[in-house]
Formats: sequence, C-alpha cells, structure tokens
Amino acid sequence: MRNISLILKQFSRSVLLVAGFAAMGLTAHAQGDAAKGEALYKANCTSCHKLDQRLTGPALGPAITSETDDKWLTKWIQNNQALIAAKDKKALAIYNEYNQAGMNVFTNLSDGDVANIITYVRTEYKKMQSTPVAGAPGAAVAETGPSNTLVFGLIGVIIVALIVILVLNKAIGTLERLVLNRKNLPADELEPEVEEVAVDRLATVKRLAKNKKLVFFFILAGTVAMGSWSWVTMWNTNVHQGYQPKQPIAYSHELHAGVMKINCQYCHSSAYKGKNATIPSLNVCMNCHKVVKTESPEIHKIYDALGYDPQTQKYDTTKARPIQWVRIHNLPDFAYFNHSQHVKVAGIKCQACHGPIQTMKEVYQYSPLTMKWCIQCHKRTETNYKNNTYYDQMVQVHDRLKRGEKVTAAALGGLECAKCHY
Ligand code: HEC
Ligand code: HEC
Ligand code: HEC
Ligand code: HEC
Ligand code: HEC
Ligand code: HEC
Repeated sequence: MRNISLILKQFSRSVLLVAGFAAMGLTAHAQGDAAKGEALYKANCTSCHKLDQRLTGPALGPAITSETDDKWLTKWIQNNQALIAAKDKKALAIYNEYNQAGMNVFTNLSDGDVANIITYVRTEYKKMQSTPVAGAPGAAVAETGPSNTLVFGLIGVIIVALIVILVLNKAIGTLERLVLNRKNLPADELEPEVEEVAVDRLATVKRLAKNKKLVFFFILAGTVAMGSWSWVTMWNTNVHQGYQPKQPIAYSHELHAGVMKINCQYCHSSAYKGKNATIPSLNVCMNCHKVVKTESPEIHKIYDALGYDPQTQKYDTTKARPIQWVRIHNLPDFAYFNHSQHVKVAGIKCQACHGPIQTMKEVYQYSPLTMKWCIQCHKRTETNYKNNTYYDQMVQVHDRLKRGEKVTAAALGGLECAKCHY
C-alpha cells in the first residue's frame, strides 16, 4: 500500500514536472520567431490573406505549410513580380490560378523577416488544425466573444485540477490509513479494504459529494461554462455574420465578377463616389441581357420587372415593377459608414470587408460589422495620406494657425455637401 502511494506520488510529480518543462520549452521555441512573424504578417498580409480561407489571395496556411522549397517561397514573398517577369513556372501557375489578381512586392522584408512570417504561419495553422473550430467559415461566433483558445484553455485547466484533486485525495486516504496502521489501529474502521475492492458505486458517489474541494470545482466548472456561453450569446446578439438570404433573381457574383471578371465598379460605381455602394438598376443588366441568355426564365424576370417584351423589343413602363433585392449588409441608422472614404481615399479593396465576393454564387455577409470590427481595423490600418488633398488642406490650416491667421469652418471642409447631408 505504502509503496503504491509513494510511487503514485512520485509519478504524478514527475509527470507534472516533465509536462511543465515541455510546455515551457515548446512555447519558448516557437515564440522567438513566430511572435515577430505574427506582427509582420498582420501588418503586411492580412489585407489579402487569411490562414484558412481564400480572400483576395489564397489561404496561406495550406499554401505555406505544403510548400517545401523555402528559398522559392522567400523569393515569392519578397518579389513575386520579379518571379513572374522571369517566367518562373510555379509563379506563373499561381498568378494565373488567382485571375492575375497580383500580390504586392515586399522588397522591404529581409530574409529573416520572411522566415519569421513563414514560421508564424506554419505554427499558427498547425494550432488551428488541432483545435476544433466552433463555427464553419462564414458562420457566426468566429470574430467576436472570447477566443476558442481561451475557452479550451480554461476547460483544460479545470480538467487538470480535477485530476490533481482526485490523485491527491487518493494519496491522502492512503496516508491516513498508513498512519492508522502505524498506531496499530484497524484501518478497516475507516474504510474496509474488502469493500473497496468490491467497489460500491453509490457509496463512492456519496463520498465524493462530501468532498468540498471536488464539489467546489464542479460548481466552478459549471459557472465558467454558463458564463462563457452567455458571454458568446450576448456578444453575438444582432450580429448577422454569414447572413445569406435568397435573392429574387439567381444572379451570381461568382459568374459575373469571378469568371467574367466584370469590375465591381461597373455595377457598384457609387462606392467610389459616395456613402452608399448601391445595387445597380436592371438597365445595367440589360446592357448584356438584351441579347445574352434571352431564353432563360431568370432573365425573363428582368424583362418582366422592366416591362420589356423580347419579341417586340419594346418597353411598356406601365407593366414595370421593381425587383426587390434582399438587403444583406445593414448597419443600424445611428452608425455612419462611407464607402468612398474607405475605397477611394484609403484604397481598401472591397474584399477586405466583403470577403471573396467574386467566388460567391449567392452573397453572404462575410464580416461581423460590429463596432469592434470597425475599431480594430482603424487601429491597425495606416492612412494613405500621400497625394490626398484633404490632408494637404489640414497641413495648410495648421500652418495658417501657426502664423496666427484666421481659419474659418469653411477651410475645414464646412462647405462640403457630404459633411451635412447623408
Ligand atoms: C494586395 C494583396 C496581397 C497582399 C498584401 C499579400 N498577398 Fe500574397 N497573394 C496575393 C494574391 C492575389 C496571390 C495569388 C497570386 C497572384 O495572383 O499573384 C498571392 C499569393 C501568395 C502566395 C502563394 C500561395 C501559393 O498558392 O503558393 C504566398 C506564399 C503569399 N501570397 C504570401 C504572402 C505574404 C507572406 C504576404 C505578406 C507579407 C502577402 N502574401 C501579402 C495577394 C496579396
Ligand atoms: C453585373 C453587376 C454586378 C457586378 C459586376 C458586381 N455586383 Fe455586387 N451586386 C449586384 C447585384 C444585382 C446585387 C444584389 C443581389 C445580390 O445580393 O446578389 C449585388 C450585391 C452585392 C453585395 C451585397 C449588398 C447587400 O445587400 O448588402 C455586395 C457586398 C456586393 N454586391 C459587392 C460586390 C463586389 C465586391 C463586386 C466586385 C468583386 C461586385 N459586387 C460586382 C451586381 C453586381
Ligand atoms: C457584361 C455583361 C453582363 C452584365 C452587365 C450582366 N450579365 Fe448576367 N450574364 C452574362 C452572361 C454572358 C451570362 C451567361 C453565361 C453563360 O453562358 O452561362 C450571364 C448569366 C446570367 C444569369 C444566369 C442565367 C441562366 O439561366 O443561366 C443571370 C440570372 C444573370 N446573368 C443575371 C444578371 C443580372 C441580374 C444582371 C444585372 C445586375 C446581369 N446579369 C448583368 C453577362 C452579363
Ligand atoms: C471598410 C469596409 C468596406 C469596404 C472596403 C467596402 N464595403 Fe461595402 N459595405 C460595408 C459596410 C459596413 C456596409 C453596410 C453599410 C450600411 O448599412 O450603411 C456595406 C454595404 C455595401 C453594399 C450594400 C449597399 C450599401 O451601400 O449599403 C454594397 C453593394 C457594397 N457594400 C459593395 C461594396 C463594393 C463594391 C466595395 C468595393 C468597391 C465595397 N463595398 C467596399 C463595408 C465596406
Ligand atoms: C479594412 C479596414 C477598415 C474597416 C473594416 C473600417 N474602416 Fe473606417 N477607415 C479605415 C481607414 C484606413 C480610414 C482612413 C481613411 C482616410 O485616410 O481618410 C477610415 C476612416 C473612417 C472614417 C473617417 C474618420 C475621419 O476622422 O475622417 C469613418 C467615420 C469610418 N472610417 C467609419 C467606419 C465604420 C463605421 C466602420 C465599420 C462599419 C469602418 N469604418 C470600418 C479603415 C477601415
Ligand atoms: C453646413 C451644412 C450644409 C452644407 C455644407 C450643405 N448643406 Fe444643404 N442643407 C443644409 C441644411 C441644414 C438644410 C435644410 C434646410 C431647411 O430645411 O431649410 C439643407 C438643405 C438642402 C437642400 C434642400 C433639401 C430639401 O428637401 O429642401 C438641398 C438640395 C441641399 N441642401 C443641397 C446641398 C448641396 C448640393 C450641398 C453641397 C454643395 C450642400 N447642400 C451643402 C445644410 C448644409
């Protein structure tokens, strides 16, 4: 008995020690490079890449993990355009696969920087694959609420604590029995050994229920589980990430913007000019569909909506009725969002906020559109102040103030229509 408890104690102690050192060693090894890599990755790559999903560029997790030639990879990341210009076969294949979207060059990144990024992507992607993900791509949860690592970490800690308590409990029991043995008292009075072998389950449960530490940990575990569940639920109230309503016409962005590569601007030109991106009028569709796919019932919905008769090629406006597209992205009225400020001034690609629209048969809401989402990007993204008359104006105003000259509200843009009108 005594031997067993001693062995058990030593065993558990050494297991804990080994596990502790292993964890420390592992994280220390990965952090050195990966931490620097993470910062570089977030600053340079996240506008076009995600680890596990296609954005403007390919999902980087699988792409970088499966690439064995790190020298080539480094060259690509530093200057993919040089590789393409040199007609490197692999580079051309990737370039063409992604509709020649074109990646930025990063000649400012040293070999060491790139190695850090690669290490970060590989370790992070490995981690992602080994932790179960709560939602499918595009589904809710993902961006908001506590991270999966946090929740699983907490659950892990609780399980380990439970095991430790059980082991300690067992050891204490054995020790008590030992002490009693020393005093030559019959240990059976406390816990008859024969019965213990015969394991009376009900009695075990009762005994465990009397263990205050154990009960405390069960209550703690329950509270943590309930707490994180309600935390996630509350954070996701009114978040419609992944919302994908059925549209009245089976119009596909995958076909028009992806395969046919029609520029977003062709249909959503106001995104570059003003607050709203707006949905194009059916007349824009008619530029092509007057002659394309005239027999399709889906295209006939366009004709019906415009009161157009394909036989006579005449419009009868009395029969016209608008198509009711279902709105997908919708901020509450108290939040002001302006497209041109982001698309034109900041030069942000549509896909950074709307995801890979050119691959969507039916559009869904890709980003959470929460305030946290707006703020996080504002904290991360540098403004594009070069050749920007607005910022030039600010500098001028600043200079005039320094010289003690008069500055009116007009000089600050108080005459611009959009400052006062939605
Ligand atoms: C402006 C958008 C953009 C940015 C920023 C960007 N990429 Fe790319 N990346 C692309 C596109 C698009 C492709 C697909 C090839 C093409 O069209 O040229 C690509 C391809 C790649 C590939 C090849 C994937 C494969 O299939 O083998 C790697 C690796 C890569 N990018 C890494 C990076 C890293 C690392 C960064 C940050 C330092 C970065 N990219 C930043 C757009 C971008
Ligand atoms: C040929 C015209 C056309 C082109 C080109 C086009 N779109 Fe659209 N877009 C539409 C129509 C029509 C709708 C409304 C129906 C729907 O949601 O699918 C729409 C809807 C959308 C929506 C959802 C609007 C909402 O209700 O919240 C987004 C976002 C969007 N487009 C982005 C893009 C982006 C980004 C591109 C370029 C990659 C693009 N579109 C190219 C016609 C077009
Ligand atoms: C630049 C030309 C062009 C414009 C603009 C355009 N389309 Fe198309 N669209 C096409 C072509 C080409 C096809 C057919 C591809 C094929 O052969 O399957 C097509 C296919 C379709 C189809 C599938 C028809 C079927 O039965 O297969 C629908 C629905 C459709 N378009 C709706 C629209 C709507 C709605 C708009 C306006 C928002 C629009 N298209 C604007 C060129 C265009
Ligand atoms: C910085 C993020 C961001 C970028 C970049 C962006 N959008 Fe949007 N988009 C939004 C938000 C947020 C909404 C919801 C606006 C609202 O409800 O007032 C939206 C709404 C839309 C809508 C629905 C109609 C509307 O105007 O409310 C369309 C269509 C659209 N975007 C297309 C585009 C296109 C095309 C581009 C690229 C030219 C683009 N967006 C770039 C964030 C963005
Ligand atoms: C992809 C990154 C990104 C996202 C997401 C984003 N923004 Fe921005 N936003 C920017 C950048 C960059 C600027 C600076 C543009 C400039 O240089 O004027 C900006 C500027 C603004 C400004 C003008 C600030 C000023 O003082 O001139 C407003 C207002 C704004 N954003 C609102 C929003 C709202 C609301 C959302 C969320 C619905 C949002 N943005 C999401 C990148 C983003
Ligand atoms: C300093 C703020 C401000 C600026 C800048 C401004 N407006 Fe206005 N505007 C207003 C206000 C306030 C009203 C409503 C006045 C009223 O109801 O009598 C208005 C009314 C209007 C109306 C009449 C709307 C109606 O229903 O009667 C139009 C049209 C208009 N503005 C256009 C513009 C245009 C175009 C510009 C840019 C050249 C502009 N505004 C710049 C504040 C402004």
